[in-house]
Amino acid sequence: MILGGDGYCGWATALHLSNRGYEVAIVDNMCRRTFDDQLGFNSLTPIKGIHERVRVWEEVSGKRIQLYVGDICDYEFLSAAFQAFEPTACVHFGEQRSAPYSMMDRSRAVFTQTNNVMGTINVCYAIKEFAPECHLIKLGTMGEYGTPNIDIEEGYITIEHNGRTDTLPYPKQGNSFYHLSKCHDSANMLMCTKTWKMRTTDLNQGVVYGVATPETMMDDRLVNRLDYDAVFGTALNRFAIQAAVGHPMTVYGKGGQTRGFLNITDTCKCIQIACDNPAPPGEMKIYNQFTEQFSVNELAALITEAGQKLGLDPQVINVPNPRTEMEEHYYNAKHSKLQDLGLEPNLMKESILESLLTTVVKYKDNVDQRLILPGVNWTESASVGKTIAKV
Ligand SMILES: NC(=O)c1ccc[n+]([C@@H]2O[C@H](COP(=O)([O-])OP(=O)(O)OC[C@H]3O[C@@H](n4cnc5c(N)ncnc54)[C@H](O)[C@@H]3O)[C@@H](O)[C@H]2O)c1
Repeated sequence: MILGGDGYCGWATALHLSNRGYEVAIVDNMCRRTFDDQLGFNSLTPIKGIHERVRVWEEVSGKRIQLYVGDICDYEFLSAAFQAFEPTACVHFGEQRSAPYSMMDRSRAVFTQTNNVMGTINVCYAIKEFAPECHLIKLGTMGEYGTPNIDIEEGYITIEHNGRTDTLPYPKQGNSFYHLSKCHDSANMLMCTKTWKMRTTDLNQGVVYGVATPETMMDDRLVNRLDYDAVFGTALNRFAIQAAVGHPMTVYGKGGQTRGFLNITDTCKCIQIACDNPAPPGEMKIYNQFTEQFSVNELAALITEAGQKLGLDPQVINVPNPRTEMEEHYYNAKHSKLQDLGLEPNLMKESILESLLTTVVKYKDNVDQRLILPGVNWTESASVGKTIAKV
């Protein structure tokens, strides 16, 4: 059962698992599409509605994906979906996932934490009540750890203090209401796991880039979403689009901000690995789900090189950083557990960047340049509702 299966990671993962013979259901309330409607955004790629998506998938692959349209915060709906599908694994992508969105204004901060924290508590109760053996695979983010001045471990850290030693959850210090919603989720899940002997895996995912996967390439109508606006677009995807339309790549501040990254095809593989290796009852496994780390300046340099090979002329500008974050810092995050379980990473090479740029160039006429510059400043988060679209 893929919660959030109409979204960027969820759609690619649902097709990946379905193509490999897993019986898949998508649960989604389409709120991601509503955010775009409210803010005047759109995916660069022309995505089809979810009903058409699953119809086309059946036509192309002969495989059926079940669909449950509804809100996981609505426990009655979620219970009915659990009872109908009887999942053995539940992959939870179904959250509001943008840090800038959560920092726009008070109501969106409250929405983000309510939607994410309440949704995850509901999922834990649904598993306890209707599918106690079901393995919960929950998407967290590397952003939960922040940027501490020591190595980041995979979930747990052994600390010696005043002569005693214990292995404890690694300290979390999210720097937006969104990241903090994930920290709260992790704490809630750990408590439920221990108390109700649930099987859970918390995946601290890095920034995902890329758009095509073998399944979405089977038919144009299966194309995945690609966000480039300043609220939902993630760094590398945004840089690729900026380079393709001749807009300078907008590096925030000094550009030394370093994060973990992974290709969308590796997101799918990691989820499959997590599904195939369920946690034992009462234990929460934690993996850092990324394959390489880069600074923002390094990303801009990689896109510049790949873009020049395609005849583009990518430029870089440093814009004032709208986020409150360190722009130069130590960063060394461990990420070996998924590779130990068999992940063969699809690393960021020229060929991958070139194929991303080629896809982006194909759809570049859809780009609305007004949406490219940063629109949300952390320190100016408003108590009254904000809009983004500029006329
Ligand atoms: N995209 C990234 O780079 C990235 C990086 C790290 C972690 N993650 C995490 O992975 C998950 C998926 O990210 P994504 O980029 O695919 O996001 P997305 O917004 O594209 O997809 C999320 C989906 O969940 C659905 N959803 C949200 N709240 C829901 C609710 N209450 N009930 C039912 N459906 C709901 C949305 O409609 C959407 O289709 C998120 O939890 C995100 O925090 C993503």
